[in-house]
Amino acid sequence: MRNPTRALSRAGPILFGGAIGESSWGSCMTGVIGRRLGEDRAQAAFTFSFEGEAIQAWPGETIAAALMASGQVHLRDAEDGSARGVVCGIGACWECRCIVDGAANTRACMTEARPGMVVARQHGVGR
Ligand code: FES
Repeated sequence: MRNPTRALSRAGPILFGGAIGESSWGSCMTGVIGRRLGEDRAQAAFTFSFEGEAIQAWPGETIAAALMASGQVHLRDAEDGSARGVVCGIGACWECRCIVDGAANTRACMTEARPGMVVARQHGVGR
């Protein structure tokens, strides 16, 4: 019998249900949350930085949405060093915590992206 977890793991980055690469949900959810509704928006795109890389975002997008649309799924390292990313996308799990303009433990899925903001991957509890 075919193992669905293995099939999904080959499809691309996995970030749900624990460490990146360990879940069977990740690739499909990455596509949902990371998908933009359209490139023909009335308002102009802007950029912010993540780990020194310019990330394009549109007004109203969360940091998580913009990062995932840019292919950035590794948002923090857990206390055990494992890579973590967006899990719930609704502010409940805290797996998407980043350092935003110097503020640790900022949930990327609940924070609207702003022009020029500086976002960094958080390591551990962010102290
Ligand atoms: S992804 Fe769960 S709180 Fe942000």
